[in-house]
Amino acid sequence: MPTMQPTENMSVESRGSRMPDPCALIIFGATGNLTQRKLIPALFKLWQNKLLPKIFSIVGIARKPLTDEDFRKTTLEGIKNYADIDVDSSQWASFAQSLFYVSINAEELQAYESLSARLDALDQERNTGGNRLFYLAVPPQEYVPIVKNLGEAGLARYKSKKSWIRIIIEKPFGRDLESARELNRSVTRYYHEDQIYRIDHYLGKETVQNILVFRFANSIFEPIWNRQYIDHVQIMAAEEIGIENRGRYYDTAGALRDMVQNHLLQLVCTTAMEPPSSFTATAVRDEKAKVLQAIRPITAQYSSECTVRGQYTDGSVCGESVPAYRKEQMIAPNSQTETYVALKFLIDNWRWAEVPFYLRTGKRLAKRVTEIAIQFKRTPHLVFARTPEEHVLPNLLALGIQPDENIQIQFEAKVPGPLIRLRPVDMDFKYSTSFSIPTEEAYERLLLDAWLGDATLFARSDWIELAWSFITPILEGWENLHEPIPTYAAGAWGPAEADAFMARDNRKWRLSSKWTD
Ligand code: BG6
Repeated sequence: MPTMQPTENMSVESRGSRMPDPCALIIFGATGNLTQRKLIPALFKLWQNKLLPKIFSIVGIARKPLTDEDFRKTTLEGIKNYADIDVDSSQWASFAQSLFYVSINAEELQAYESLSARLDALDQERNTGGNRLFYLAVPPQEYVPIVKNLGEAGLARYKSKKSWIRIIIEKPFGRDLESARELNRSVTRYYHEDQIYRIDHYLGKETVQNILVFRFANSIFEPIWNRQYIDHVQIMAAEEIGIENRGRYYDTAGALRDMVQNHLLQLVCTTAMEPPSSFTATAVRDEKAKVLQAIRPITAQYSSECTVRGQYTDGSVCGESVPAYRKEQMIAPNSQTETYVALKFLIDNWRWAEVPFYLRTGKRLAKRVTEIAIQFKRTPHLVFARTPEEHVLPNLLALGIQPDENIQIQFEAKVPGPLIRLRPVDMDFKYSTSFSIPTEEAYERLLLDAWLGDATLFARSDWIELAWSFITPILEGWENLHEPIPTYAAGAWGPAEADAFMARDNRKWRLSSKWTD
């Protein structure tokens, strides 16, 4: 059983005034893409902004035999190649003194003896008080062996009453309900829930955090945020990129597992949750779990009725020709894996009864856009005379997550002139014009929160299992389908079947003129 520690339920507001404790951050998968592209740049930026404690060490772990010095060089190259950061060489030299490297095969228990000795020595040298933050930035099949080995080697035990140990686990957290439960069981054998930080980088995005502020720090939106005023909700995460060099993983995952089970369902919960009593990990995560509990399941039998899959063929994205999914590296030539998915579901509670939520996500789509669109109902009666061509559009509220970081309200206005003519116009809030501070990278926020012991923006075990309970029957339903997967040309907005899916409900996918210019 894990040893108990006082509940870590710090509110996010208090983080600004708190400096994280000295600690050793131990990254498994130190030579991988995530560490090089995201984690080290985020840590360097936190350090530049004086948000890290004076004393800390970052210990990279991977199989490759490297010295501390080699590791420092590789990470510097990573920052130069992938991150948009000015690296001042004297600043880097000072930061790099806190970087260390241990080469082990993390799947072998014996290797943890030397790791443990190195961590103890560093702890003594650097006075980090036995505080440890483990980060699993490794392929998912390595999670269980590493968690088990850390536990069996005694590295999950507190060094003293004052010290703490936490573990950050990357996505994907399981590939279906059973494997997610199994993983939760393995991790909770050695760690208490308060020590486990399951990352969903969407929760670290400023615009996603702002949804809660928009909803709960303003009084005018909440009264209309319900079935009385809202016709439906559309959430889209469209990507221009393909599967990059991740064919091996992606072909066994697909868009539903890769994007919907985690990121899109987090967006659903943030949009649909009830106001929490406070902005603390427990209160926020309780409300999110209640949303998932209320989603009407899509049983395997109805999966083809409530979802549309798609896979990209040859095409062109942003003027550049790109090959079909099946021609990408490590992809089976007859693969049926979906690179696009659209789905519809209901949330059975008082606020949302009968309001459909439509989600869609895909790779190699026309434009990179992540957005939540709240489509309000039409006015009950039209006062102004209209010609049949003059449509009055119902109000729309679009929460732009990326790349446009904005909030837009669309409403009808009178066109100046002697006649009453209407035209939809926008009120637009843009982060970039309202705030001069650049938005923080998601990983900066999440790493710092985990270091501070604030789990508000991390997924709790019950949430993960509820999300998989929703997704797994859909996957099972798809397994029984015998027709070939629908296709779309790379650079389109998805397969024609997805438009027909909306047309059946007399609705259309939102297509902003900004996305087609
Ligand atoms: C990751 C998925 O979790 O999120 C990727 O595995 C996807 O396939 C990425 O490209 C999208 O993240 P973002 O922040 O670019 O929207």
